[in-house]
Amino acid sequence: MTAELDAIAQKMVADGKGILAADESSGTIKKRFDAIGVESTEENRRDYRELMFRSEAMTKYISGVILYEETIRQKAKDGTPLVSLIEQAGSIPGIKVDAGAKPQPAFPGETITEGLDGLAGRLKEFYDLGARFAKWRAVIDIDTAKGIPSYGSIRANAHALARYAALCQEAKIVPIVEPEVLMDGSHDIDTCYQVTEWVLKTTFEELYYQRVRLEGMVLKPNMIVPGKKAAKQASVAEVAEKTVRVLKSCVPSVVPGIAFLSGGQSDEDATAHLDAMVKLGGLPWKLTYSYGRALQAAPQKAWAGKAENVAKAQAAFTHRAHMNSLAALGQWSS
Ligand code: 13P
Repeated sequence: MTAELDAIAQKMVADGKGILAADESSGTIKKRFDAIGVESTEENRRDYRELMFRSEAMTKYISGVILYEETIRQKAKDGTPLVSLIEQAGSIPGIKVDAGAKPQPAFPGETITEGLDGLAGRLKEFYDLGARFAKWRAVIDIDTAKGIPSYGSIRANAHALARYAALCQEAKIVPIVEPEVLMDGSHDIDTCYQVTEWVLKTTFEELYYQRVRLEGMVLKPNMIVPGKKAAKQASVAEVAEKTVRVLKSCVPSVVPGIAFLSGGQSDEDATAHLDAMVKLGGLPWKLTYSYGRALQAAPQKAWAGKAENVAKAQAAFTHRAHMNSLAALGQWSS
């Protein structure tokens, strides 16, 4: 079982490939569709995701796709299960299994991600539907004036991530462990560094206590960036240097790969930052992308809900995926 897990984890971070995060919950996909004037119906969600799964990007640049519960059960217009489209492209289907970040009692302004109850049974069902990896996202906000984040919230979220990861491995599913430090707010880059360091140290401590096999997981962290509203923004070189430094000090080298979230960065920033990190070289793990917005903003805009725009949207998605593939190889240039 361990060999099987390790092989999937390695395939997820194969050279020049990365993960498409297409697991927007019903609420989040509605927000994205609102922005392009498309109604969020089951059919529109299916049509949109089907166009991505049938694009050229899939065979060349996308090692795996994170799906939402609705999508893993959906069929394409011609009746083919969407999971089969992903598999036929040589990509791996995955599934978001957390139930979302909920207000944490006694911790105003902080959240705890829920979804552990009954997870063993749900994982079994998702395995039978074709999922070979899963995702759980913990959300850590920064508001230093309010003492956020707190020890209690970081500890609880790291513990939940580790319990989830252990349950996944028991079910022969590779866990993507995602502790996201948000880039909302006006904090500076060094505050992001310090909080991310604390969160990653705590997460790997909890993974150790829950006996999670580090060779059979993928880490999905934020990059080290200043808050979006910070007065001083950072250069690509500074983001790359600080992100690699924090990862080297916190992530054991047996972890096969690190696949970043884009977190609200522009498409080009997300690509440039990844490329700069890979170009630094001498890294013990693979670095790649597990982007949602930075892969999908362009195709969503090109599609705008119209059948006649499908080819244009597929080309836009393939282009972003290609640029990120080059970045994961350290071969991108602006
Ligand atoms: P973004 O790249 O849009 O941050 O989404 C990635 C993701 O899966 C967040 O959980």
